Amino acid sequence: MKKLGILLSGRGSNFEAIAESVRVGRIEAEIALVISNRPNAKGLETARKLGLKAECIPSAGLEREEYDRLTAARMKQEGVDLVCLAGFMRLLSAWFVEQYPQRILNIHPSLLPSFPGLEAQRQAIEHGVRYSGCTVHFVDEKLDAGPILTQAVVEVFDDDTEATLAARILEHEHRIYTEAIQIALSGRYRIEGRRVVRLS
Ligand code: GAR
Repeated sequence: MKKLGILLSGRGSNFEAIAESVRVGRIEAEIALVISNRPNAKGLETARKLGLKAECIPSAGLEREEYDRLTAARMKQEGVDLVCLAGFMRLLSAWFVEQYPQRILNIHPSLLPSFPGLEAQRQAIEHGVRYSGCTVHFVDEKLDAGPILTQAVVEVFDDDTEATLAARILEHEHRIYTEAIQIALSGRYRIEGRRVVRLS
């Protein structure tokens, strides 16, 4: 059975959706470890309630790579095959990315490469786009930048606020993250440049 490692910083609804997919067998893997960089992350509490191994490794005051060495060490001890960032609000160091080449996924609430970084939904509204959405991509050392596995398109309405748009996008996030994990675990793809080409 393949092992997933989850990194999160907050609410953890994407993690919950992944855990549910694991529970019902949509994702054929187990969640070996959940790590939060923030002690009061709700996702950590949820993970514990689900009986999963859940740990806080606080990031405050640590250099990026110093922190990443701690989290990678735990992931390796637990035999993690695929690292899933689920609202993990830290950039990973090149060192961490090298430990898990093409085996780290991230979900981002916009149609990348539009609106990387923080407050993607607000950026979309302020820019005036008519469509936004979400993206699951492989992680490299740049922010919200690696090869794209899946995306979903969401319409932006005139009366949308950051909150209403975020909520509509989130429903799709929960669906496409599971799809992306299934593809990544299946190994039925090839990366050509920036393109993830699916193999049948
Ligand atoms: C999600 O919308 C996720 O796409 C976003 O943070 C939220 C976390 O929610 N991630 C990023 O913006 C990463 N750049 P959750 O904790 O309920 O999954």
